[in-house]
Amino acid sequence: MIAIAKNTPLSMPSSSPEIESTPDAPTGGGRPVEALLHAQAIAAQRLAAIVESSEDAIVSKDLNGIVTSWNPAAERIFGFTEQEMIGRPITTIIPPELRDDEARILATIQRGERIEHFETVRTNKNGEPVEVSLSISPVKDETGRIVGAAKIARDITQQKRTEQMLLATERLAAVGRLTATVAHEINNPLEAVTNLIYLAKMASPPGEARTFLSAAEVQLATVAHLTRQTLSFYRETTSTRAVGPGEIVSDLLSVFASRARNKGIEIRQRILSDAAINAVPGEVRQVIANLISNAIDAIPGPGRIEIRVTAARDGKSKPVRGVRITVADTGVGIPAAARSHVFEPFFTTKRDAGTGLGLWVCKSIADKHRGAIRLRSNTTPGKSWTAVSVFFPVNSLVENTGEWQMRPESELKKAS
Ligand SMILES: Nc1ncnc2c1ncn2[C@@H]1O[C@H](COP(=O)(O)OP(=O)(O)O)[C@@H](O)[C@H]1O
Ligand SMILES: [Mg+2]
Repeated sequence: MIAIAKNTPLSMPSSSPEIESTPDAPTGGGRPVEALLHAQAIAAQRLAAIVESSEDAIVSKDLNGIVTSWNPAAERIFGFTEQEMIGRPITTIIPPELRDDEARILATIQRGERIEHFETVRTNKNGEPVEVSLSISPVKDETGRIVGAAKIARDITQQKRTEQMLLATERLAAVGRLTATVAHEINNPLEAVTNLIYLAKMASPPGEARTFLSAAEVQLATVAHLTRQTLSFYRETTSTRAVGPGEIVSDLLSVFASRARNKGIEIRQRILSDAAINAVPGEVRQVIANLISNAIDAIPGPGRIEIRVTAARDGKSKPVRGVRITVADTGVGIPAAARSHVFEPFFTTKRDAGTGLGLWVCKSIADKHRGAIRLRSNTTPGKSWTAVSVFFPVNSLVENTGEWQMRPESELKKAS
């Protein structure tokens, strides 16, 4: 298609009827040649406009990997202008360690096959990495011979960065949680020891023992300062405000879009309530991101994920108003034996790819907001699914005490 836009002798594979070259077009009797040529010219113009205005880089190259067209989005994403790139090898934007990719891509194209949503890294003019999702199709000439490749590259650098940040925050959230728990647990005995040392110092006669006790006091003061600081830092980073879960869901969908698309997963959102809850925004985001991430992991091939946000009432003795966020997937499901363990820290079935902290963090965040997390799942082959839902009360009244509503000791014991 690019070929026509750029007036080079290439045309797209015959699967694009609009721009198919027609060497065998009827010359007499059927459609007049002029009309056909006119239609072709209009199609070419339209195509050129699409290529020019596309947000994705659209590039074509011949079978030697030499660039034959380069659109404005390619200029923007890779920093090289059209003049700089036409006639140059495409390896200009391929990092040295990935140059083998190019040979494999060309081999695939030569077999007449397409490559879809291939995630890889390219470099821009400044030598900085650009994460891209590539779709590449063979380009044929009038006789159907493959003469080159047309490539659409989408810049997914930002998306990747956010994905990685979410994973990192999952770890950080867990570490923060542990640190604050430890600091809190240390605080009380520390106070007791400080008082005891003070008493011992008072009771002992002036001399060596007293000097030692004074030195111990100084060291203890350092530890006390550290724990106090840890707790106040945690309190500062976890203050609450009005949060709209629906908005967070929509926002996160763009983050997970490429990971889902690559697996052929369709994500649907049904935001049936726009009620705001009083919560720690980063934590609500963390919970929803963990659930979506788990749902994507659970689906091996094509499948569906539905995310619902509904107004709800929950609470054991006295139901309170709130919002329920449900993430349902058509994945492999969770076997009954594993269901009671998934909320434990470090429980994972993903080997090196998982931290086993996601659901633990989700549960402690839900508990802290006086909410609840529930899980239902079915592992019947062919119709397995999982639905995890989190309830947040409208007013969660989170107390920023740095204490956990859950029992960290018992949780940690279970994990060991
Ligand atoms: N939607 C889901 N479908 C199937 N299994 C799930 C789902 N969500 C969680 N699990 C199971 O629970 C385990 C723990 O999840 P999590 O705490 O998020 O840790 P991680 O994702 O790092 O493994 C996963 O390894 C997986 O076995
Ligand atoms: Mg997880």
